Amino acid sequence: MLKDDFNRTATYLRIGVTDRCNLRCRYCMPEEGIDFSKRKDLMSYEEIIKLSKIFRDLGIQKVRITGGEPFVRKDMMHLITELHSIFPTLHITTNATLLQHYLEELKSLKIGGLNISLDTLDRNKFHLITRRDTFNRVIDNIYKSVEANIPTKINMVVMKGVNDQEIPDFIRLGKKLNVEVRFIEAMPFNQLDGNKSVFMSHPEILQLIKEKFEEVSKMNDTSISSSLKYIVDNETVVGIIPAYTRSLCSSCNRIRLTPKGELLNCLYSEKGLNLLELIRSKALNDSQLKGHIKNAVAGKLSSGWEEEEKRDDTIFNSMTTIGG
Ligand code: GTP
Ligand code: 5AD
Ligand code: SF4
Repeated sequence: MLKDDFNRTATYLRIGVTDRCNLRCRYCMPEEGIDFSKRKDLMSYEEIIKLSKIFRDLGIQKVRITGGEPFVRKDMMHLITELHSIFPTLHITTNATLLQHYLEELKSLKIGGLNISLDTLDRNKFHLITRRDTFNRVIDNIYKSVEANIPTKINMVVMKGVNDQEIPDFIRLGKKLNVEVRFIEAMPFNQLDGNKSVFMSHPEILQLIKEKFEEVSKMNDTSISSSLKYIVDNETVVGIIPAYTRSLCSSCNRIRLTPKGELLNCLYSEKGLNLLELIRSKALNDSQLKGHIKNAVAGKLSSGWEEEEKRDDTIFNSMTTIGG
């Protein structure tokens, strides 16, 4: 078991498989991209599998593959298939631009679920936000994923004055497709003004929903989740993710492995345990590796605020280097 000093148990591992992405969302990356990792510095699939087995032995039950965009990495389905045999509860976060090639296989694999990023329902605005014109493809793939009965969620990063007025339409889309839509607070990455001018907090997002719908009630949700869930008009479940205000830290059950094989305790951690170095240069056996991992997780700080305070560098590069 991976326990920390605040009596939380890590059971959910997010594995970032690449820091590359085929979109350039303005809240995430500049047009020219970031200083992407070199291939040799990324975990190979064999290394990911090796570490995954160790994490399974340590009590990890749920894995989410993230990026960047996972499907831009070559032979992704191979890794997904392998990981699925280790973790039956395997999920993927994706921008859905390439999903049409993989939906059949994901369906037959009975993948745990897809969280799909979509920030607007307007094609031109999509182009403006992502700097790419792939809106039709993404929408089409969301519908296809739902039709294939793959548990699907939609992630919308809320930006004041950019897409906040679309929140009601997203709720209606969630109702129509019977999918959970989650509204995410924009995190302060090193873009624009650190997303400050467009930031909307969880209470502000909730207030906007309350103004537009008659009945909005808090859902009694005992599961550990990144979102606070609400029921709109007695039938549609929506989530709000306090990614910046960090109000869910006391029940956090997640840890993350970055594309470069660093184990981070928190989305706001600057440094972590360099597992890739440990498996490449120091010939540690599994039991030694497990000891290092347990120690690292035990030292997890109480909240994302504490993690941020400890950082030397207050500039966050991009979500893609962490895996979200
Ligand atoms: P579920 O497994 O379906 O609950 O998904 P998830 O919300 O864990 O994963 P997803 O990749 O869809 O992440 C959505 C957003 O949640 C990301 O953009 C992050 O901003 C935010 N998020 C995920 N994990 C954390 C976390 O540990 N802390 C904070 N503050 N935000 C997080
Ligand atoms: N703030 C909040 N969420 C973000 N994501 C990417 N960048 C940010 C940010 N600055 C979201 C993506 C995706 C999830 C993994 O992270 O939209 O849904
Ligand atoms: Fe967990 Fe850190 Fe996220 Fe808080 S900010 S929920 S402690 S990962």
